[in-house]
Amino acid sequence: MKMNSMTSTTALVTLCGWSVLAGATALSAQQPTAHDAGARTPEVSFVAPTVFRNISTLPRTVEINLTAAPARISLRPGVTTDAFAYNGQIPGPTLDIREGDHVIIHFQNNLSEPTTVHWHGLHIPANQDGSPFHPIKPGEKHDYVFTIAKGTAGTYWYHPHPDMRSGYQVAKGLYGGIVIHAADDPLPRSLPEKLIILGDNRINADGSVDWSDRHSPQGIIDEENGREGNLLFVNGEIMPTIKIKPGEVQRWRIVNASAARIYRLALQGHTLLQVGTDGGLFEHPVEEKEILLANSERVEFLVRGTGKPGSVSLLETLPYDRYAPQTRPADWNQPLPLLSLEYTNDEPVAPVTIPTTLRHIPVLDTTKATAHHDITLSQGLINGKMMDMSRVDVRAPLNATEIWQIENVVGMDHPFHLHGFSFQVLDRNGVPEKDRRWKDTVNVPKHETVRFIVKYDDNPGLWMFHCHILDHEDHGMMGVLQVK
Ligand code: C2O
Ligand code: CU
Ligand code: CU
Repeated sequence: MKMNSMTSTTALVTLCGWSVLAGATALSAQQPTAHDAGARTPEVSFVAPTVFRNISTLPRTVEINLTAAPARISLRPGVTTDAFAYNGQIPGPTLDIREGDHVIIHFQNNLSEPTTVHWHGLHIPANQDGSPFHPIKPGEKHDYVFTIAKGTAGTYWYHPHPDMRSGYQVAKGLYGGIVIHAADDPLPRSLPEKLIILGDNRINADGSVDWSDRHSPQGIIDEENGREGNLLFVNGEIMPTIKIKPGEVQRWRIVNASAARIYRLALQGHTLLQVGTDGGLFEHPVEEKEILLANSERVEFLVRGTGKPGSVSLLETLPYDRYAPQTRPADWNQPLPLLSLEYTNDEPVAPVTIPTTLRHIPVLDTTKATAHHDITLSQGLINGKMMDMSRVDVRAPLNATEIWQIENVVGMDHPFHLHGFSFQVLDRNGVPEKDRRWKDTVNVPKHETVRFIVKYDDNPGLWMFHCHILDHEDHGMMGVLQVK
């Protein structure tokens, strides 16, 4: 990546350790553009990450081995990268499990730095959550043990969560998917499923991960903007092709594993029948032209094969302005292709019926709320503070129902994530949500306010909440919730 030298009109301003670039220069010119991503081999076919091998023979038990270790992997065509990988692959293997499963993960840290494995979105005991409270030292082993709660079928993911190093370790290649199946999934079993894990990265010409020193001009932009890359990965590949038969209906599960990039997903010539979000299926499917997917959010939708035999449609991310103007990338207003959907010349597939009710979602009752918490997001800070692991920011009694109000007082988006408990968004800027949905992350756009309701129905302990722009999280835009 080329780094333009800064002109004299640019000034560096540092506020409480948070650096802001100010000045008249088009700083965004320093950002790599997505257009140089063109160096790819044509026709890469879509591959789902492999699934973990279950070494248990016990019923309803999934026992697996997971190692985080350095690996040499080709991420960008023509070069190999000194990466980190889970079980030697990027993304790591998929944890494919069922509600009620007992899960045992024998984790080994073969990195030369501490790490954790965080099971993003799962309802599990606090000491199994892989939060920064429970680092695993280099060379150490740790067993994560938990049981998958009923009603939590959906798409989740796992990633490192060590203090101040999550962004670096994810950039080096540590992330993987989790799919939890329900015994009574209402969607037809015949639908082909595609797990699509989105990530982006910058890879230097020599193959090394372009991780800029936090004090370099690019590092300062990365820390404010969140680090974006010009290479857009789908399960570790660039622009793969998914085949679809005319008339076929496919079920896509998409994870945003990017550190900072927010995807505004649209499929050319198609509408999307959205059936689920972070915490699993909706009550009713919703027809959408596009879906905004902030960092760490997941979406499930049905792609209906309405295109012509032999035709191709691109899944794109459309322009979305999450940025502060001074660090907005030059090409932010360009649509970027993620994958291509290619119709075969097969005979049309017989239509399938999609149920109009998927499941019942119990509505958390606002009249039962016993406390309100006001959270203010500013640049790099929550309620004006950086994270301190020895401080408890929010205290709540076990089994309480509470309302959180998250107000973003600055000019860039901050996706807010709560560990351990799924919540239901009540309103955005006072406008009530149409449906109740289970979420664990909600994007709070610039100068907007979101309210959600949550019930701490199990699992007392210390839980993190934070901005899921990994650079912000690592910087300390995080707080601690104690449930007891
Ligand atoms: Cu994806 Cu604190 O987590
Ligand atoms: Cu999490
Ligand atoms: Cu943020």
